[in-house]
Amino acid sequence: MPTIHIRKTWDLDRSAATPEADFNGRRAFLAQVGLGGLGGLGAYGLITACRPSVADDGDVDVEDELRQTLVPPPGSAFEPGKRVAAYTLDRPLTDELTAARYNNFYEFGLNKERCWREAQRLTVRPWTIEVSGLVDKPLTLGIDDIIRKMPVEERLYRFRCVERWSMAVPWHGFSFRAFMDWVKPLSSAKFVRFVSFLRRDQAVGQRGNSGYTWPYYEGLRIDEAANELCFVATGIYGHDLPRQHGAPFRMVLPWKYGYKGAKSIVKIEFVEKQPRTFWNDQNPREYGFLSNVDPNKPHPRWSQATETMIGTNAPRPTLPYNGYGEFVAEMYKG
Ligand code: MTE
Repeated sequence: MPTIHIRKTWDLDRSAATPEADFNGRRAFLAQVGLGGLGGLGAYGLITACRPSVADDGDVDVEDELRQTLVPPPGSAFEPGKRVAAYTLDRPLTDELTAARYNNFYEFGLNKERCWREAQRLTVRPWTIEVSGLVDKPLTLGIDDIIRKMPVEERLYRFRCVERWSMAVPWHGFSFRAFMDWVKPLSSAKFVRFVSFLRRDQAVGQRGNSGYTWPYYEGLRIDEAANELCFVATGIYGHDLPRQHGAPFRMVLPWKYGYKGAKSIVKIEFVEKQPRTFWNDQNPREYGFLSNVDPNKPHPRWSQATETMIGTNAPRPTLPYNGYGEFVAEMYKG
């Protein structure tokens, strides 16, 4: 693994600034071809990038700074959950600090090298979540009341980003089905909509004319939301979710591309009609509503047949539904 320290070429033209653009950095390219002096990186889809682990970087200052991001917020009710045996991995877990410094969180900028640092500006206590729309009773819930009420467990899940990187991490949290059992959507609810925070004072990416329609919003069909794999993460690697991973409440949908899992959610709305989604509104040709992982359906600008685990160089084949077909394929028959 190379130990060179080179800034990435993140300042791409705004029109190309999709998740894939964020992914293909200069460092990754150099790592692949062993060259410097790259200009005009245009063939995004041709390069398989990876992120060296923090230890490989040998950057002690960054390591200390990253460890600071793992400190729990004051007053958090988080307790680690017991591991559920049903969800096993076919690969080693990703190094924690590697995952903690390789994030997509556009509210904090497109630059991954700055984004995890910028995310530390987010105030995660107090934090409330509004549950509204077609529910028994609209509610506003405090995050720690939710954590105390829900059956917390640990799940080892694979995670596949549409940009072709992947990781394997131990999430802590609860099934969204358990949450729905609590808040009781009405039978007329056919979809659920998730909305992330809007805080221009804390989120640099939400300021000015970013071109994005903040806040971030996502959605699921109600049967998808009730699927046993659909998970709310409030923790990771045995402690509170750090801000860069979407503290204090984010969705994890391991059979879908990563962008379907909204981070730092403040509103959950049960609705009758299919809701609009952030990336679909940005670029409907490239990002659909379902967005299930499918190696046979290329992204318009790159193949989805393979992926690279962050922290290693090894490419691996991508599996249909990211390998979770036995749990979810039934929902998409016909
Ligand atoms: N949620 C919000 N609110 N903002 C974002 O930019 N990025 C998505 C998803 N959820 C995003 C988001 C994308 S593209 C990915 S791949 C995952 O978060 C990344 O999650 P991670 O940083 O914890 O790996």
